[in-house]
Amino acid sequence: MIPLSKQTGPAGHWLAGNLGNFGRDPLGFLGRCAAEYGHVVRLRFFNRSVCLVNDPAVIEHVLATGARKFRKTLGYRTPFMRRLFGNGLLTSEGEHWTKQRRLAQPAFHRDRINTYARQVVEFADEMVSGWRSGKSMELHAEVLKLTTLVVVKSLFNSEVPREIDNLSESSAVVMKRFSSLMSPSRMWMNLLPSRSSREFGQVMKRLDDFILRLVRERRASGEDKGDLLSMLLLARDEDGSGMSDQELRDELVTLMVAGLDTTALALSWAIHLLARHPEVQKKLETELREVLGTRCPTVDELKRLPFAEAVIKESLRLYPPAWIVGREALEDFEAGGVLIPKGTSVIMSQWLVHRDARWFPDADAFRPERWLDGSTAGIPKFAYFPFGGGPRICIGGAFAMMEATLALAVIKQRFAFEDIPEKVVRLWPAITLQPATGIWVRLRSVENAPIEGSSTDCRAIA
Ligand code: HEM
Repeated sequence: MIPLSKQTGPAGHWLAGNLGNFGRDPLGFLGRCAAEYGHVVRLRFFNRSVCLVNDPAVIEHVLATGARKFRKTLGYRTPFMRRLFGNGLLTSEGEHWTKQRRLAQPAFHRDRINTYARQVVEFADEMVSGWRSGKSMELHAEVLKLTTLVVVKSLFNSEVPREIDNLSESSAVVMKRFSSLMSPSRMWMNLLPSRSSREFGQVMKRLDDFILRLVRERRASGEDKGDLLSMLLLARDEDGSGMSDQELRDELVTLMVAGLDTTALALSWAIHLLARHPEVQKKLETELREVLGTRCPTVDELKRLPFAEAVIKESLRLYPPAWIVGREALEDFEAGGVLIPKGTSVIMSQWLVHRDARWFPDADAFRPERWLDGSTAGIPKFAYFPFGGGPRICIGGAFAMMEATLALAVIKQRFAFEDIPEKVVRLWPAITLQPATGIWVRLRSVENAPIEGSSTDCRAIA
């Protein structure tokens, strides 16, 4: 076994190591590392030893089978992440995490998720009722509004207040602030007050005010609405104490932020890919017509829409909203013949592994069929991990799949998307994989669609 210090990896800046190259073009840098140095690549971010791992078997060890010997990387403990997520599910560790995960889990059981499906269909139907054939539109902002309405309604039983409904702008502020933290030269600047820090502070304050108001109103009413908010609010420790306002704030903001942006991206990237592949759109339209006709879908019909689900799975493969995850080794461990010392940050990128031709022949091609023709059946478990894995697997994975597939079905029953070649889509790998200037498409009515603008059917089933 060779020590990590002897393993090959790209040369870096004497002080910042590889952080500059990583921060400037993360996806390109990681791709070059994998192509040149293989499955275990030695890196350094300032004085921190970092190791990029591209082997599904090692990823399985880090995230799942050996998960006890790792914690989340330093990236999750920065002041930025603390301000955003506090000590919520995504960032907490140890006993606190175990307790909170157990408390939140019931809100994500399949039966509960099925009850959220009605809202997805209703909100998606309302959204498309404002769309018109022939119009060019930026759809990511639209879809972000949709997923926000769904998360806030399903988990907190509330409407989205006006103060926070300009979400694409708020989301851009948060993503920009995050991106600046990945650049060593701008990192020092971020210690000084700036426009970006002020804007980030304002966005966070509006979000906190909204969540804390919800908590206080529900506490005051004493009512059990059976939603996630009531579940967390009514939970008691063995000593009878409940969660503080701050603890509740951290969990609710985490669930909201983690849930709305990622699911919106899953849908937006699917729309982008469909616009570029009219033949795939036709296949999807055929499935929807044969199974649903002009009716709105229900959650029970999802299993009869395998192609729609395959479209979302393939989009999550090519454009994984969570494009990287990281862990810090609490003990030495072995990865592909390399001894990784305790304290090393291990980074694993869905973007990279999902495009590995060993598991996905013609890996850059958008082929939803690969999820239906048996060709992905024998791939290693962690060759595809859009929702992570092991004990810290995404709590909302099934919710997100249901939401994205149902919403796509409602949208595609009515509209086809045409690519607008002048609107170049640029990838922006921030906390999540963003389309830098949105997803622009031209809308066309689908033949025999439910009447454009009509939403009576879906309201009736909802
Ligand atoms: C397509 C949509 C989604 C994607 C791609 C996604 C991806 C992920 C990934 C990769 C992780 C693991 C992070 C790690 O291991 O460090 C994660 C964790 C998490 N996700 Fe999601 N997510 C999605 C939707 C959702 C939804 C809808 C919710 C909630 C409403 C949610 C809430 C969370 C939470 C709370 C965690 C932390 C879980 C824990 O550590 O116990 N996510 N997500």
